[in-house]
Amino acid sequence: MSDVALQNITKDFKAVTALKDVSFSINDGEFFVLLGPTGAGKTTTLRVIAGLTRQDEGSVLFDGEPIDNLTPADRDVAFVFQQYSLYPTMTVFDNLAFPLRSPMRKTPEAEIRTQVEEVAEVLRITHLLERKTAHLSGGEMQRVTIGRAIVRDPRLFLMDEPLSNLDAKLRESLRVELQHLQKTQGATTLFVTHDQIEALTMGERIAVLNQGRILQIGTPEDIYDRPATTFVAQLVGTPRVNLVKANRADGTLYVADSAIHLPIPEDSDLPPSFTLGVRPEDMKPDKEGDFPGQITLIEPLGVETILHIKSGEQTLLSLIPGLTDLRMGDEVRFNIVRERLHYFQEDGTRISV
Ligand SMILES: Nc1ncnc2c1ncn2[C@@H]1O[C@H](COP(=O)(O)OP(=O)(O)OP(=O)(O)O)[C@@H](O)[C@H]1O
Ligand SMILES: [Mg+2]
Repeated sequence: MSDVALQNITKDFKAVTALKDVSFSINDGEFFVLLGPTGAGKTTTLRVIAGLTRQDEGSVLFDGEPIDNLTPADRDVAFVFQQYSLYPTMTVFDNLAFPLRSPMRKTPEAEIRTQVEEVAEVLRITHLLERKTAHLSGGEMQRVTIGRAIVRDPRLFLMDEPLSNLDAKLRESLRVELQHLQKTQGATTLFVTHDQIEALTMGERIAVLNQGRILQIGTPEDIYDRPATTFVAQLVGTPRVNLVKANRADGTLYVADSAIHLPIPEDSDLPPSFTLGVRPEDMKPDKEGDFPGQITLIEPLGVETILHIKSGEQTLLSLIPGLTDLRMGDEVRFNIVRERLHYFQEDGTRISV
């Protein structure tokens, strides 16, 4: 196992800049998540690390040593691809054994069997070992794909959205299993996803990538509680953060076109106009609340309920636990948790207050 570093990686595909000056490092044994929307450059990042795509600029280091001149085979990374990449005519057993049978390794067959059986048990696919992979369900195929990566002990796992093709239930259970596996094996892992829930629940640290650039690197708490930009703030959290235009005058913050105004310290560093971010869970109906509003929509989700509260011309989302007695059209009062507000410059960057 090793630590891995990317230094100022840039990669262009003709007119498209897939990666621009990307730098981050992954600690030994860390579960590191790369989170970004489609086209962000996630797969390209993994391919550069694996040696499948050559970067235009910058360097990849393992244990502090540049490995840019090593072939993919010599880099000793295991890549779980976005699409299934199994050998359809081979059995599950042979697919799992394949990485161990490489001529360079000369692993004895008995040892191969032991290792394959161990991995099959962990992933609960023992009953499938003799089956041809062409006849597996999507979830089973993905387990085999993951199994093929973890059957050996590479210095780094690169996982490209390995759970994204699965149904919600299977995704949840594999998420937990993968995490458990990674913790027990202590394998350094770079896990790519566009799913914020996966990123927040699995990542020890997360790097947010958009249009080939890193926007923020931090723990899930950093990313959620101190998003570096409005883009990051919107990328994590469902329902989405409320972003509204606001102004300050003297000691008061006014949310544009609404009844919301809050006292702020006179010596506050806030500019005269800015964007205010309010997470839905930080906005609650409250009989004694400071602000008037009207319920315009209710989305009951069972465990929690999303309320659309209109105040002036603004409609803000509020997330409350459980179900509600409120009805559409009800006049309510509400409060906002002031310590948890987010402030952004008009260009979208966070203002620390
Ligand atoms: N071989 C290629 N030739 C030309 N353009 C490419 C090539 N590979 C990637 N790109 C472009 O580079 C950008 C980044 O692509 P990449 O596949 O890394 O994104 P991604 O974050 O993995 O997206 P997704 O979530 O859709 O898988 C995209 O605009 C893509 O079209
Ligand atoms: Mg991709």
